[in-house]
Amino acid sequence: MKALDTVLKTACTAAALIGAIGVLAMQPAHAADASNGKVLTEAHNCAACHGPNLNKPVSAEYPKLAGQHADYLYWALRQYQMGNGNPNFGRNNPIMAAQVQSLSQSDLKDISAYIESLDGDLIVKK
Ligand code: HEC
Repeated sequence: MKALDTVLKTACTAAALIGAIGVLAMQPAHAADASNGKVLTEAHNCAACHGPNLNKPVSAEYPKLAGQHADYLYWALRQYQMGNGNPNFGRNNPIMAAQVQSLSQSDLKDISAYIESLDGDLIVKK
């Protein structure tokens, strides 16, 4: 009986460990990294249109971005990705669709976190 106890105990310990690994694996894999977002934003030359610090667009059709909420920015960028070529789904601006096709979802989160961290002139009136 002793041997059986030991086997059961070992099996239970193994099951508990596997369970713990499962819980760890379910943790969000990626916390947004604003410093990587800065690198990506510079590499993709977003300021060419959205202006210095993404706060002074070079033309009135290009929105100000600096200081906007990261959640909003992330979904705007995802929509440009998903809406590409399909006027019924997502945002369908061809200029922005072209900017985001090569970026992963985690890149978009990093970029959004970086843009949110910038000081900007956007005003939320209450
Ligand atoms: C060639 C010019 C150009 C470049 C380069 C560019 N954008 Fe844009 N961006 C635009 C235009 C034009 C719009 C408005 C599109 C529309 O009407 O939906 C826009 C819109 C956006 C929006 C939506 C803003 C809002 O308030 O809804 C985000 C976010 C954005 N751009 C981020 C970026 C990022 C990040 C990059 C670099 C990866 C980038 N843009 C590069 C022209 C550009």
